[in-house]
Amino acid sequence: MASTSCLSILVLVVALTASSASAQLSSTFYDTSCPNALSTIKSAVTTAVNNEPRMGASLLRLHFHDCFGCDGSVLLNDTATFTGEQGAIPNKNSLRGFTVIDNIKTQVEAVCNQTVSCADILAVAARDSVVALGGPSWTVLLGRRDSTNASKSNANSDLPGPSFNLANLTQLFANKGLNVTEMVALSGGHTIGQAQCRFFRDHIYNDTNINSTFASSLQGNCPQASGSGDANLAPLDATSATSFDNAYFTNLLSQKGLLHSDQELFNGGAADTTVQSFASSSSAFSSAFAAAMVKMGNISPKTGTQGEIRLTCSKVNS
Ligand code: HEM
Repeated sequence: MASTSCLSILVLVVALTASSASAQLSSTFYDTSCPNALSTIKSAVTTAVNNEPRMGASLLRLHFHDCFGCDGSVLLNDTATFTGEQGAIPNKNSLRGFTVIDNIKTQVEAVCNQTVSCADILAVAARDSVVALGGPSWTVLLGRRDSTNASKSNANSDLPGPSFNLANLTQLFANKGLNVTEMVALSGGHTIGQAQCRFFRDHIYNDTNINSTFASSLQGNCPQASGSGDANLAPLDATSATSFDNAYFTNLLSQKGLLHSDQELFNGGAADTTVQSFASSSSAFSSAFAAAMVKMGNISPKTGTQGEIRLTCSKVNS
């Protein structure tokens, strides 16, 4: 009898552990444990975006780059035991917003000690950034936990690059369970923010699927010689870089995508019809973007007893 009940308890413990480790994200995750978490993040994001509108773009991109595994790993500095993601090719001298996330984390820790993960802060900050710049809102699912390690090589292999063609892009998003429509919708994130000359130089000098007046206008601030003006900026959406709208797609219709990878989405291939539909309907884009952000935010999160709630977003707890 005693051994039967011991066995039952063991089975129960194993079952509970397994279910908590694979727990689903939930919109109400902090309702009891930290009811002020979301309002604290929102007001900090609104302040940061009011100070510098581009910060909204930088925070959206941080979540995307975290989220090919949404576990806060992108925020970790290098340590003696691992080389983090910040030095990976798509991130180095490019990702921004770390200080803003650190400030938000400090404010959130002040209202609820070691309760809200850095991965969730990134997800909420991305949504609040889009809203602050006039874009759609959505309900962020919560309960991600933070990783205790990071991988530069995974970031290099998992994230897309500006020279990718449609097949490369499609494959990379498919690897994360995102289809072509979702990929096109998410790429609409390029309706805000800036890119450095080194990422669009080839496109404006060597590609033919680009509006020639548009290419010439960009060449003035992005010299052809590599190493010259590499960090000079141009808006990803030349029409309205600080407004979250569907102009990114109308630009693509007139061959005014800034990156080679942007114009690949409207270049005679399978993504053309989706680009056209988002160009002709901002509400179709808004709802597809919001739904795809929720799906992206669900890519292999750590939940339950996995990982930890970091005290400081840039380093694992000691
Ligand atoms: C489709 C594949 C994608 C490629 C190849 C790509 C590539 C890039 C590149 C090269 C930059 C410029 C970085 C720099 O100059 O420092 C950039 C910026 C940006 N990306 Fe993407 N990206 C992609 C998808 C996405 C997605 C899915 C999102 C969000 C949902 C996103 C959001 C942004 C934002 C907001 C910026 C501007 C950041 C800022 O101004 O700080 N991108 N992207």
